[in-house]
Amino acid sequence: MKQVVTIEELRSELCAIRSEGRSVGLVPTMGYLHEGHACLVRAAVAATDEVVVSVFVNPLQFAPDEDLDTYPRDLDRDRDLAAEAGASLLFTPTVDEMYPDGPVLTTVSVDSLAGRLEGASRPTHFAGVATVVAKLFAIVGPCAAFFGEKDYQQLQIVTRMAGDLSFPVMVNGVPTSREDDGLARSSRNVRLDPDERDSAVCLSKALNAGAQTIESGIKDPAAIVQVMEAVIDADPLGRLDYVAVVDPDTLEVPEVIAGPVRLLGAVHYRAARLIDNRGATPPT
Ligand code: PAF
Repeated sequence: MKQVVTIEELRSELCAIRSEGRSVGLVPTMGYLHEGHACLVRAAVAATDEVVVSVFVNPLQFAPDEDLDTYPRDLDRDRDLAAEAGASLLFTPTVDEMYPDGPVLTTVSVDSLAGRLEGASRPTHFAGVATVVAKLFAIVGPCAAFFGEKDYQQLQIVTRMAGDLSFPVMVNGVPTSREDDGLARSSRNVRLDPDERDSAVCLSKALNAGAQTIESGIKDPAAIVQVMEAVIDADPLGRLDYVAVVDPDTLEVPEVIAGPVRLLGAVHYRAARLIDNRGATPPT
């Protein structure tokens, strides 16, 4: 695996790959890679000829009071994990390389999808995500890109953006990678102390309880929210941010659960805010 730092180097590598008729896969990350990222890389390796993993902690998607400075980083480990999972290129640009003119004047906003759920707590987050992903798509060019379903709202936003702006990119979602007890893998899990780590499974348990209730035939989204909230409220350490039942495409709350829905939630711990989601389908 070759590491490249500049956009020019990456484009020249990709040009050589394409001149041999080989297809390109892209796995955008913010580094501190774990098994969940390895699943994304392996999915990209299975579907394309040469895979680029980008590692860039994107300042645009962090609000001033968020954890940009303390976001976990370990480039040596990232290099090993990406190579082991089968990546051909590791793209590790600096902030100056990605934003050479300082704060960007051009941003991408994916209006109705970005303001709710995660966007309600983090109002500038998705414009930062969509802008950096648009830049990566413009830098890499025609490719298949792979994103984790763990960040479900991000996946929907990126998919919609790629379509709306006609990027020559096929966006693929990869199922969430989980620990044995069901906790969704996340770079931020390292911030949980041992008691919090045990408690953190309350979020996936809450989503599962909501899904079971839907599968039992309850059709009222508010009742499902109550079931999920009760599981998190019963946990002594996790502090509920939100849980929601939404349409899987529009992310709007349905009046009645009449078809497949997505259940999403976020829980605060002392030094980490965790998110998770899953699908659910009512009985026919
Ligand atoms: O999911 C992430 O790690 C980031 O939001 C992404 C997509 C790499 C953009 O910075």
